[in-house]
Amino acid sequence: MIGLEGASIGVEQRSSESARFREDVVRGLSAPRKTLPPKWLYDRRGSALFELICEQAEYYPTRTELGILEGHAEEIAEAIGPGALVFEPGAGSGRKTALLLSALERPAGYVPVDISREALLEGAESLRRQFPRLGVRPIVADFTGPVALPLGDLPARRRVAFFPGSTIGNFDPPEAVSLLRRMARDAGPGGALVIGVDLAKDERTLVRAYDDARGVTAAFDLNLLARMNRELGGDFRLSAFRHRAVFDPRLSRVEMHLESLEPQLVNVAGESFAFRAGETIHTESAYKWETRAFDALALIAGWRPERTWTDERAWFAVKLYTAAR
Ligand code: AVI
Repeated sequence: MIGLEGASIGVEQRSSESARFREDVVRGLSAPRKTLPPKWLYDRRGSALFELICEQAEYYPTRTELGILEGHAEEIAEAIGPGALVFEPGAGSGRKTALLLSALERPAGYVPVDISREALLEGAESLRRQFPRLGVRPIVADFTGPVALPLGDLPARRRVAFFPGSTIGNFDPPEAVSLLRRMARDAGPGGALVIGVDLAKDERTLVRAYDDARGVTAAFDLNLLARMNRELGGDFRLSAFRHRAVFDPRLSRVEMHLESLEPQLVNVAGESFAFRAGETIHTESAYKWETRAFDALALIAGWRPERTWTDERAWFAVKLYTAAR
């Protein structure tokens, strides 16, 4: 973890990232059911495609959450109170953060946390321009890993974790609990959590959201094969795979898969992997929660439910929790 003031992130960090990618690929493609961690979807091209997904008509979460934040920013800010330090694990495009920060009374500072240095710096710069009097302290860290953030030396009446976008849905429940628990520790006694949670709904809407008609989500998913070719010397033929989104009602999650269209042998990361026709690589899960079930999960992680704001179709929820002592 690196505070950006005066820090240089060099070749070493990049090479350890690349070693981790290689390890995950070899492990994931050797498993009886092939799988890869979703975080590798987000290289530069993957992140750009994800921004484009957010603009697709079928992808309702971004629009819906923005609508909730716009409609209830004052109430959310009032419930949080003055002088709050906001930290954001996996800081995104900044629009949602700007909505929250502009509603808060005298925010004490903003700490975006992300593994991608460039995106982090760009986002921090844009927020500095919008809020020139606000202290913005970016931290380079993989928020999915076991790091505690050095927030204790930043004076604030209250620390607030901001985790919008339903990113929590991309974690299996045990991982989600660990992540939320770490946020509770970082927020400290009296801390708060403002989190976006995508809610359970009809299967058709869900599957369309992850398989849009223009094929942007398909391109996002297939880019993972292209990334393995680029970075790990792979020879995946993208035309020999297709993107699929399926809903598993038992686990209440949408799964993204890359399906092999024919029997084939692929070389990547110095190893060979056989695929049967129809065999898939599971690349992402997106859990869709009932609001009460999510409260129960959060409680296990040390968060007491306070408020829930939702849209008129109850498709998405923005929820406020306080750290249970
Ligand atoms: C980042 N995350 C919350 C998105 C989601 O909806 O699960 C990622 C995504 N994958 C495909 N479309 C969007």
